[in-house]
Amino acid sequence: MTHSDVEARALGAARDVRHRAYAPYSQFLVGAALIDARGGIHVGCNVENASYGLTQCAERAAVTAATAAGCRDITVCVLVADTPEPITPCGACRQVLAEVNPDMDVLCTTVEGKAVRLSLADLLPQGFSRHHLP
Ligand code: THU
Repeated sequence: MTHSDVEARALGAARDVRHRAYAPYSQFLVGAALIDARGGIHVGCNVENASYGLTQCAERAAVTAATAAGCRDITVCVLVADTPEPITPCGACRQVLAEVNPDMDVLCTTVEGKAVRLSLADLLPQGFSRHHLP
């Protein structure tokens, strides 16, 4: 299977899991799919809470799923939301994604099919990492 086949599958998986988002407060459904080095796909959706600050974004849910599956070798994060222009991960998710792989690609897409490919290194320049710890 080619890399673009895997990306197409990941995009489909992110679009599907988006419908499982629990977002009764914002009604804003987000799906994410992480691609690992063997072409495995790990999905997540946003999960909101009545205590709003406890909301988990789709990207962080996908990191949790990949980690639970034993995969940290993530190369691409695919993101899907229903917006006129593609959204990019929030600051907290950029930091969590960077812990996994600061050089991953982030493929930001809309339900209508608009897409922009970014590098996490550009989304989180000069980020804090384990390398800064004494
Ligand atoms: N959200 C995500 O899941 N990912 C993003 O990249 C942006 C925001 C969620 C959090 C919250 O449930 C809703 O979208 C509105 O902010």
